[in-house]
Amino acid sequence: MVKLKTLMEIETMRQAGEIAAAARALAGEMVTPGVTTREIDRAVHAFILSRHATPTFLHYCGYPASVCVSVNDEVIHGIPGKRRLVEGDVVSIDVGATYHGFVGDCAATFIAGAGTEEAQRLVQVTRQSFFEGIACAVPGRRVGDIGAAIQQYVEANGFSVVRDYVGHGVGAVMHEDPEVPNYATERPGPRLYPGMTLAIEPMVNAGGWQIRVLKDGWTVKTADGSLSAHYENSVLITDGKPEILTAVGGKVL
Ligand code: MF3
Ligand code: CO
Repeated sequence: MVKLKTLMEIETMRQAGEIAAAARALAGEMVTPGVTTREIDRAVHAFILSRHATPTFLHYCGYPASVCVSVNDEVIHGIPGKRRLVEGDVVSIDVGATYHGFVGDCAATFIAGAGTEEAQRLVQVTRQSFFEGIACAVPGRRVGDIGAAIQQYVEANGFSVVRDYVGHGVGAVMHEDPEVPNYATERPGPRLYPGMTLAIEPMVNAGGWQIRVLKDGWTVKTADGSLSAHYENSVLITDGKPEILTAVGGKVL
């Protein structure tokens, strides 16, 4: 069931979204050669608590950390640990914050140091694919239109869209209905209405779309070892243009 949010719920989701987005920005600034992924996790964890929120991911289905840090051929759900970032690493940061019972969920990919031209292009195309997607996130259109736009843009740029994981409704829990695929499907998906809140999150591989899950049960990697990037915001459907909830002072990373 898709839940439309009340004005008060939306206001709380803006606050949760701002905390998640600020945590994403903090993590992004830490993406530099020499830092460990655990140091990023500890900093994000402390920051979220300092904002009187809780890290949504910690203990979610047994997930052991407050942030996902996925490096190079890791697509999503990388578990922070002793790994030390090196120059050129492509680092996807995914973070959720729960505030007064509502969730903000967002992600972005950063490069440690300069990075190759291909890496920079992958990061840019992945981010832009999100904006191509939300251009369709208006009343009267359907959820499926978002994914079709994302896929078209990504493939026109020579990359591929992960199929095994999708975006989702977001609200009182992290994963609500509906599913928000980043690719075209046979089904058009539900109609979009003002008050719907969706986490739109393209995962884009430089090579093929196929993935594999490591034995740790979490880490998702590209099957062919190619680089991968991720970009996500929690978004409110309005009467007009969609509003990005995971923004800091109206600014989106
Ligand atoms: N943004 C991710 C999602 O939508 C975050 C989940 S990671 C988890 O599923 F560890 F919390 F599962
Ligand atoms: Co999400």
